[in-house]
Amino acid sequence: MGAQHYPPPWFSVAPMMDWTDNHYRTLARLISKKAWLYTEMIAAETIVYQTGNLDRFLAYGPEQHPIVLQIGGNKLENLAKATQLATPYGYDEINLNCGCPSPKVAGHGCFGVRLMLDPKFVAEAMSVIAANTNVPVSVKCRIGVDDHDSYNELCDFIYEVSSHSPTRHFIIHSRKALLNGISPADNRKIPPLKYEYYYALLRDFPDLQFTINGGITSIEEVNAARTEGAHGVMLGRAAYGNPWQILGLVDSAVYGAPLRSITRRQVLEQYQVYGDSVLKIYGPRPTVREVVKPLLGLFHAEPRNVVWKRAVDAAFRHCTTIKSLFEETLGEIPDEVLDAPITEVPSGSTDTFIKAKSLLPPPYTVNEEELLYA
Ligand SMILES: Cc1cc2nc3c(=O)[nH]c(=O)nc-3n(C[C@H](O)[C@H](O)[C@H](O)COP(=O)(O)O)c2cc1C
Repeated sequence: MGAQHYPPPWFSVAPMMDWTDNHYRTLARLISKKAWLYTEMIAAETIVYQTGNLDRFLAYGPEQHPIVLQIGGNKLENLAKATQLATPYGYDEINLNCGCPSPKVAGHGCFGVRLMLDPKFVAEAMSVIAANTNVPVSVKCRIGVDDHDSYNELCDFIYEVSSHSPTRHFIIHSRKALLNGISPADNRKIPPLKYEYYYALLRDFPDLQFTINGGITSIEEVNAARTEGAHGVMLGRAAYGNPWQILGLVDSAVYGAPLRSITRRQVLEQYQVYGDSVLKIYGPRPTVREVVKPLLGLFHAEPRNVVWKRAVDAAFRHCTTIKSLFEETLGEIPDEVLDAPITEVPSGSTDTFIKAKSLLPPPYTVNEEELLYA
């Protein structure tokens, strides 16, 4: 099935290592039928060197479509081979990570966000990935790295990659990365967001698709970004930390489908069946704790959320099934919370993106000669 059979990627959940694993994606899909889901980044080397163990890294339930595999790497042959090995799993798009500043990733050679400094390599990598798959390919990047942070340098990167590879979709985490040793978490907070770079890309590359990412925390903001022209909006931390109020509203408020009449009790009943069926399928893993982890944001800001989380923490010590953990802890959550349907998006507006559009940098003009000798 090709991407054209799915809802357009107006809303997606970001790739997040150790977070957007199979368990989280299963939960996300129980809540939203339409959001695009990204895997956590999988290093090309992991795929290439684990050929006997591929299901563990690449298998997912068929209900998770539309789903994008994000890979990371800096060796063309491994990116090619990893794409080939992933093809039978039927991902809907393959994405290359050019945004991760983690010293584990960016510190060793040219990998993650450091790839932004070598757009020629990224173009080659994307060509090799595209040659080994029949689904679309995309790049997720920042708006710059250290002092390579001018709008023109970002455009040079987009121009080089899109004109020398089949890449037509870029996801723009709209802050630069600092490679001065600050933690990955600080690198998602400290560099300021510059949505004006994102909106300028829409103006200067009208034939490409761009998804905006970074610092967006509500469905009102998702819709405000789209009203100002964003092709797609990607949420990371908010979709993980508050899945009910974010993902619960995506299908209706973003895609215009009728509001779904589900409750968290129903979601948990279905999740329990999934959870107990996957416990320990790979020796000791996944553990009860790993399977329950994505649920910890489900009652975000609800009464007794903290008490429930404390009870869950205690239950991890002895519960051996998800069913028993739910039986022991869910009594802490009031019935009216468990049985509440998804509520309409609260009215409210934001002018963040209107402001960004009033700050656009001057239009990009490509200097082929400079790029040629860069
Ligand atoms: C725990 C965590 C892990 C992440 N792992 C990845 C990753 O594997 N690949 C990637 O491209 N970005 C990764 N990111 C960055 C997110 O995809 C996203 O770009 C970033 O969090 C900004 O979006 P947000 O403000 O909506 O969270 C990660 C973020 C977090 C919080």
